[in-house]
Amino acid sequence: MEFSRRRFGLLIGGGAAGLATGATVAVGVSRAMDKEHPAQGGRPAAHTVGFDRHSVLLDGRRIAVWSGEFHPFRLPSPSLWRDILQKFRASGYNTVCIYVSWNYHSPAPGTYDFTGVRDLGAMLDMAAEEGLHVIVRPGPYINAEVDAGGYPGWLTATAGTARTDDPTYLGHVDQWLTAVNAVIAPRQYTSGGGTVLLYQLENEYAAHVHDGTGARYMAHLYAKVRADGIEVPLFHNDKGRNGYWTPGSFATDGESGRYLYAFDGYPSPDDTPPDWGLFGRGGAKGGSTASPGTPGFLAEFGGGWFDCWGGAEFDGQGYAGARATRDAAYERRFYLTNLANGITVHNVYMTFGGTSWGWLPAPAVYTSYDYGAAIDEARNLTSKIPPMKQLGYLLATVPGLARLDRVGRGDTGDPDVVLYHLADHAGSAHILVARNDAATDREVTLPLPTATGTRNVPVRIPARDARLLATELTLGSRLLRWTTAQPMLQQKSGRQDIAVLVSRPKDTVELALACSRRPTVSVLDGAAQTSYDASAGLLRITATLSGLTRLHISGDGHPSPLLLLLADDDASAALWRHDTASGPVLVHGPALLRDVEVRGTAVRLTGDTTAPSGLEVWAPRGIEAVLWNGRPVPVAMSPSGSLTARHQLPGPASFALPKLTGWRRAEENPESEPGYDDSAWAVADRRTSHSPTPVPAGGPVLFADDYGFHYGDVWYRTTFTGPVDSATVELAYRTGTQGLLMAWLDGTPLGAHRMPVPTKEQTGVRRWSATASFPVPAGALHGTGRHVLAVLVRPMAHDEDGGANDAHKTARGLVSAAFAPASGSGPAPALTWRIQGAGPADPLRGPLNTGGLHGERAGWHLPHHDDRHWQPTTLPHTGTRQGVTWYRTDFRLAVPHGTDASLGLTLTDDPAHAYRIQLFLNGWNLGQYINDVGPQHTFVLPNGILDPHGHNTLALAVLSDGTTPAGPGNAELTLLGAAAGGVPLTLVT
Ligand code: GAL
Repeated sequence: MEFSRRRFGLLIGGGAAGLATGATVAVGVSRAMDKEHPAQGGRPAAHTVGFDRHSVLLDGRRIAVWSGEFHPFRLPSPSLWRDILQKFRASGYNTVCIYVSWNYHSPAPGTYDFTGVRDLGAMLDMAAEEGLHVIVRPGPYINAEVDAGGYPGWLTATAGTARTDDPTYLGHVDQWLTAVNAVIAPRQYTSGGGTVLLYQLENEYAAHVHDGTGARYMAHLYAKVRADGIEVPLFHNDKGRNGYWTPGSFATDGESGRYLYAFDGYPSPDDTPPDWGLFGRGGAKGGSTASPGTPGFLAEFGGGWFDCWGGAEFDGQGYAGARATRDAAYERRFYLTNLANGITVHNVYMTFGGTSWGWLPAPAVYTSYDYGAAIDEARNLTSKIPPMKQLGYLLATVPGLARLDRVGRGDTGDPDVVLYHLADHAGSAHILVARNDAATDREVTLPLPTATGTRNVPVRIPARDARLLATELTLGSRLLRWTTAQPMLQQKSGRQDIAVLVSRPKDTVELALACSRRPTVSVLDGAAQTSYDASAGLLRITATLSGLTRLHISGDGHPSPLLLLLADDDASAALWRHDTASGPVLVHGPALLRDVEVRGTAVRLTGDTTAPSGLEVWAPRGIEAVLWNGRPVPVAMSPSGSLTARHQLPGPASFALPKLTGWRRAEENPESEPGYDDSAWAVADRRTSHSPTPVPAGGPVLFADDYGFHYGDVWYRTTFTGPVDSATVELAYRTGTQGLLMAWLDGTPLGAHRMPVPTKEQTGVRRWSATASFPVPAGALHGTGRHVLAVLVRPMAHDEDGGANDAHKTARGLVSAAFAPASGSGPAPALTWRIQGAGPADPLRGPLNTGGLHGERAGWHLPHHDDRHWQPTTLPHTGTRQGVTWYRTDFRLAVPHGTDASLGLTLTDDPAHAYRIQLFLNGWNLGQYINDVGPQHTFVLPNGILDPHGHNTLALAVLSDGTTPAGPGNAELTLLGAAAGGVPLTLVT
């Protein structure tokens, strides 16, 4: 961490200055801002963030921004944020891009919370400490497959159309921006207080583009954000590359040079990669050409995709399906195309997707937001990391790639193989990207431009893959005349230059190094053929890649020898570079390198092993000793000039997971009983609503949001007197996909109704509505006397508002409810309803944690709840009762210290059983399981919420619709990943 602080300066400031009157804001005090680390010497050094048409310029230096998307709100355990950030940095990203979700921070108008799992300041400080720049995207609207696209539940019941210049809406927006910007502003790179580089206004705003409203709205946001002290360049993420919100299209203050144009894209694996960059085709949908004066900026480019209830998106395979189709080759093929098109600000959405826990997920998606990303939901690096790392390291260590000029397209002789030819503006290098769009592997001969003429080289490009080749590339003091292996990194370590080049396993690669004198070459590892052509002054190397092929080249007249490492993808997965103040360090062997500190003659490495691993370190000059995770490692100097461990580093210790036994069970839904006292419930007597859902003629508003119930289950009760001559009761309701309704008449179940499972075509369909029609049992209401109709509605979430038409205000809960009069009889009774939903927001776990089940209101999900009087039971359990039943158990974990284990809860049962489970770990609502819909069966239990060294409580709230036997079936803890290493863990309490 020492290094990062030196590099980025200390963090100061913070607080909540300038808040609108009446707002309550809680802000975290992060480590870097506390008294242990006061700002030294007054104001820290200021920096500049500028740009020209080619790239962002940091303090005047050109930089390719290579960013990955991560949502801290999808990982409710701040210690693990550091884990993800370290994995980003180690994997070659120099930037992390984050949405900030308004609903996560605001339980009520005027109340903003940036503490605990919501401590945005701590997250930004960690990013700075870990050496990552940050792109922040606080909306106000974000989309992101979250409830209401990020709008707080309470906003659904306010006047004024959202995403317009309506003054009521803007009043709420300003309060949010004031609060969030007070956290962000002191952490900008420009102030020296952090690493925030760029800031996004709104998201995918494609409405009101031509009627003035949109321009006024965007101009308002722009002015507000500037007034809050945000001085870094601003941008918008233009959906679908419409050319909307380019510089000058809305801001009136003439601040040219401080606003960028950006857009997003999510091509499917079957698409031909589009030319969207600066060099792309112009006009509508052309991408960066809409703003030729600003750099090619992909604010989001698909790194995976989201799956929906029922799993239609990936044919029921879940996120394994996403990772299989948007795989490493997808990344190479699309991201290399982006680079070849002059995209120099590139953000991969998602790089770590995480979990849409609690009531966060938008209606279409289920709990896991794994996204098929390069880092999976259980925090494991996947096979998608090597291409990211190869490109990230290349951009970091081979200068010139942040500004490439397009030379043209080359001819490959194969219509399916595209060749982009680019030239390094500053030097003489040529970069070539060859892409195979066919579904079969191709062998082509590529014409490589060299200073001594065209060199035709054969290359193999697997189906739907791409590769980057280079000519005239400077490596330290040497010149690589051509290479068919992709350069990955170069550095000087100790007395030698090191260059790493990569390709697919078993690829035959060809390199030619300019050598005016016959060099001494030793092949230290692997197989390579070399020959020296004295007349051309070239050392030719060919090798078929398998692991790490090593060549040592010396005696060619250069001051330092060159260690050439030719890595296949697997070998590159175990190579890690890290910059230190003493120079760059390269490590080979472990599963992850988190941090490096040079102290005297020792290099202290921190990292992870997932199996026994070798360790090899190329360190700055003078280093003699190596420590791994604090322990000295005996090393010897290898022929490659590395310090090599004499013994393998151990992998993670093995340990057993407890079986989940000792279950206790309690039934609830007292609300369905006729004698239940609902006198404290709100009377649903409103006549008007701000929802776009029409209020039924003459009827009261029954929408849950209008009574302050925004998340989770909602109960309705009505008491009336008989006789009622009715054959059916008609309950119209809205919930989003997979919502559900159950009703009881005088305590007797009437039945349940469910919204359908969306097909692939329907995943984008919003405003799911239905009418449940339950027959009234014969004679049930014939007598005089008091009757009670009770209804439980499970709304899934608010719709997103992509169309800026207040879709997030679409009703949730009952819309209308009435007894249909039997034919020929008089009118059915007018019903007066009372409504009850979630209680006050959980101060620790936030507003989206709990809904309105009786058990939730009574704290049955909380770890300290006394369940001794509950019925002992075992799982699996089956029953056909309509309603809500809770199951609780405790378990102790003894994960060995020093092991980072990622655990999940796996639920399985006969898929014919119709029931769902809301699962709570230590009081945290970690997701919703729908047994007969899926596809998700395993739920990640993040450490910090989970105590890996202690006592944990699991509570399952089971909602069964009474139509089939219901579970829970089997519930077991599963190990999703284990590493020796990890980050220090602080429990979230
Ligand atoms: C984008 C949007 C993101 C997210 C993504 C799909 O269009 O900007 O917020 O919804 O689609 O995952």
